[in-house]
Amino acid sequence: MIRVEPTGAVLGATIHGVDLARPMRNDDFAVILHALGHHGVLRFPGQNLGPGDVSRFSALFGEIQGNPIGPLDTTREFPEVGILSNLKENGQYIGASDAGQDWHTDMTYRDVAGFVNVLYGMRIPVRDGKPLGGTEFSNMHMVYEALPADIKARLDGATATHDFTKFWDMMRAKGSPRAALTDEQRRRRPPVSHKVLLTHPITGRKVLYCNPGFTDHIDGMKRAESDALLAYLFEFQLRQRFRHTHRWTEKDLLIWDNLGTIHRAIADYRPHEIRLIRRCQVMATKIFDPAFSRIARAA
Ligand SMILES: [Fe+2]
Repeated sequence: MIRVEPTGAVLGATIHGVDLARPMRNDDFAVILHALGHHGVLRFPGQNLGPGDVSRFSALFGEIQGNPIGPLDTTREFPEVGILSNLKENGQYIGASDAGQDWHTDMTYRDVAGFVNVLYGMRIPVRDGKPLGGTEFSNMHMVYEALPADIKARLDGATATHDFTKFWDMMRAKGSPRAALTDEQRRRRPPVSHKVLLTHPITGRKVLYCNPGFTDHIDGMKRAESDALLAYLFEFQLRQRFRHTHRWTEKDLLIWDNLGTIHRAIADYRPHEIRLIRRCQVMATKIFDPAFSRIARAA
C-alpha cells in the first residue's frame, strides 16, 4: 500500500510501499504525481533498480531528454540514462563529474522545458558517518507567495530568456574540467523564452520560474533594469527559509519537480570519495496536457 510521508521541512516527502522495479499501478502513479507537485521532491528508499527500471519509471512522466549537448551514445544500452560520477576508468570520467554544482533548474534552456529529474543513488560518499554530495532545493511555490506585490505586478505576463551556455561558461570560469562548447554545440542550444510566473499544472498555484543558472535576461527590458530585477529575484529565491537539502542514502531513487523547485549539487566530497548516480531528465511533454495532469488532481 502506497504511503506518502512528508519530511516536515519546506520540501520533500518519502514514498513507502512502491517497488519501482515492477510495473506501476495507475492509482499509485496518481498518488506519486500529486505528491510530486505538492512536495516538490520525493524519495523512494531501498530500491534495487537497473538502468532499464530507471528509464521505464522516468518515461511515465514524459519524454526523456538524452545528452543535452550531442547525439545519444547508441552503443550503450539505455543511452537515455545518464551517469553523474567522479569515478574514472582509464583516466576518463565515466560520466558528468561536476553536473549541477550551482543553483539552476534543469532544461529551462529548452523550448519544451524540463519537468522531472529522476536520480538513482548507486554509490554515495560517506565521511565520519555522514553522507556527502547532497542535493539542495528551494521551493518556488513559497517564493512566489512571499514576493512583494509590486514585484509580482512587474513580472505579470513577463517572459525571460534562458541560455544553456550561461551555466556551462560559468562552471568553466570557476575551474570546471568540462570542455569549451563548440560552435555546433552552441547552435544546438539557442536561447529560449519562458514566462517568469507559471501556473503549476498540478497544484494550480503560481511559481517563480527563473534560476541563476540559465536565466539571462527579462525580455523587453533594458539590460540594466533586467539585471537589477534578476539579481533581486536570484537573491530572494535562495533565502534560507525556502531551502531544504536531501542527504542521500544508497539505493534512494529521488525525483523532483523542476517547475516548482530550483536545485544545486553540493560538491563537498573529494576525488577519492566516489559518487555514482544514474539520471534521467524528463521533459514537460505531458504535464501541461490537462488530460495528464488531471491524473494527479484526481488523486
Ligand atoms: Fe540539475
